[in-house]
Amino acid sequence: MKSLKPLFDKNRQWAETIRQEQPDFFERLSQQQTPEYLWIGCSDSRVPANQIVDMAPGEIFVHRNIANSVVHTDLNCLSVIQYAVEVLDIKHIIVCGHYGCGGVRAAMEDQQHGLIDNWLLHIKDTQRFHTETLAPLDEKQRFDRLCELNVIEQVKNVGHSTIVHGAWAAGKTLHVHGWIYNVANGLLRDLGCGVSSLEELRALEQNTP
Ligand code: CO
Repeated sequence: MKSLKPLFDKNRQWAETIRQEQPDFFERLSQQQTPEYLWIGCSDSRVPANQIVDMAPGEIFVHRNIANSVVHTDLNCLSVIQYAVEVLDIKHIIVCGHYGCGGVRAAMEDQQHGLIDNWLLHIKDTQRFHTETLAPLDEKQRFDRLCELNVIEQVKNVGHSTIVHGAWAAGKTLHVHGWIYNVANGLLRDLGCGVSSLEELRALEQNTP
């Protein structure tokens, strides 16, 4: 059994560097976590949540899956949202997609990819909802736009989850943001589809092209 020693070496160096800068860092963190943000992002190795917003351990609560999907029957994702909102009292949920997303690209193709195709059907649905917007675009534009539209749809899905509905109904402050990351330059962009109430969610649904 190969032990992947280089990773353990890197881990020791990393922990030591942090300990030198902040001797009580890990001890303090072991007492509790108080992150202010829930990040729902893609599993893509080029889109690591903490690093691209330059945040330390403890600062961001993270859920990642292929193509940053929020599916209303996915107990994994829903449990993360519930824990973040109801236990950690997080006020900001960020759905972050990225250009060049392999999941979105696969959903645009007609090829078979196996089990993953079932997951990608949700993106195919998004593509179908926006047929008119996507049809006139060239292939590159269509891919970029579907990456963006996928984020906007997931913002709606987060907003319509029972957890977020419940939080808003109870008068809690809770913002859902939709961002996209450009793997080619390392920069994030706010897609301007954020919602902070059921009214804003309804307006987003009316206005999405
Ligand atoms: Co992706």
